[in-house]
Amino acid sequence: MTAQPPAPTSPPAFLTRHLPPPNPDRPHITLTWAQSLDAKIAGKNGSRVILSGPESMLMTHWLRTMHDAILVGINTIVLDDPRLKIQLIPPHINAHPPQPLILDPKLRFPLSSRILAEWNARASKPEVVRQPWILCGDTVDVKLVQQVEQAGARVIPVSLDAEGRIPPNALPDILRSLNLRSVMIEGGSAILSSFLRSPPRDDASPLVDSIIVTVAPMFIGDGIGFVPEADEHALPQIETVYTETMGKDAVMVCKIKA
Ligand SMILES: NC(=O)c1ccc[n+]([C@@H]2O[C@H](COP(=O)([O-])OP(=O)(O)OC[C@H]3O[C@@H](n4cnc5c(N)ncnc54)[C@H](OP(=O)(O)O)[C@@H]3O)[C@@H](O)[C@H]2O)c1
Repeated sequence: MTAQPPAPTSPPAFLTRHLPPPNPDRPHITLTWAQSLDAKIAGKNGSRVILSGPESMLMTHWLRTMHDAILVGINTIVLDDPRLKIQLIPPHINAHPPQPLILDPKLRFPLSSRILAEWNARASKPEVVRQPWILCGDTVDVKLVQQVEQAGARVIPVSLDAEGRIPPNALPDILRSLNLRSVMIEGGSAILSSFLRSPPRDDASPLVDSIIVTVAPMFIGDGIGFVPEADEHALPQIETVYTETMGKDAVMVCKIKA
């Protein structure tokens, strides 16, 4: 039997090189996802597909430790029931899990979700579990807000845009108000699309600072694209900053051309 190499004790060097130190005045926004060679992030009807191999999955958990918050759309919670944790990072490193943020305009958050159950059962592992924070529309019924808060989540009402979404360009101010200096946005498709296609920040720089994509050598065929098909027009121009091979996968660090 061949001995396993020791687990790394720090993030992959290319991540450290390409992510800036936290700046509370300008929260850093990273967009990240794993896709197949045919640009799908999930299977038919949104069924979960394991795309990342062990090496790139570990990289994703290191990336989580490098951000104050991790954000997903409500459909990802409903379909995948993710925990958004850092369980692949060796415990002796004392890495901090990011604060989970869920974009959920209508407050459809399922009270049976694993992320909430783990928070409510945190007594045995308080250092590795964070309370789910849900950003919903400020017109959501107060009784529903109370119900979700009584179940253990924190609900943060915010203004919605004309399409009833949480406007991507409001995120930097929301993050500052919550004392969060960086966020890693992990999907799904609708969220990736609206952040990729959003207007620039007030200082004319792109809203999204870094894009980190894991490309797995497989085809999914009928499935969910990294952005919905209707949104494939008017995607921004991007440039590749760095590519690393991790096991079977390629991990690309890109940024939006200003
Ligand atoms: N491979 C990967 O890396 C990866 C990662 C995560 C998820 N996924 C996959 O992604 C799929 C889910 O993607 P999805 O597109 O159905 O859902 P999603 O992006 O997870 O969530 C979309 C929902 O978020 C809400 N929302 C709030 N603000 C929004 C905004 N600015 N723009 C867009 N939506 C906003 C809307 O809720 P309302 O409709 O209630 O208004 C919208 O329907 C799943 O199949 C999952 O497996 C893959």
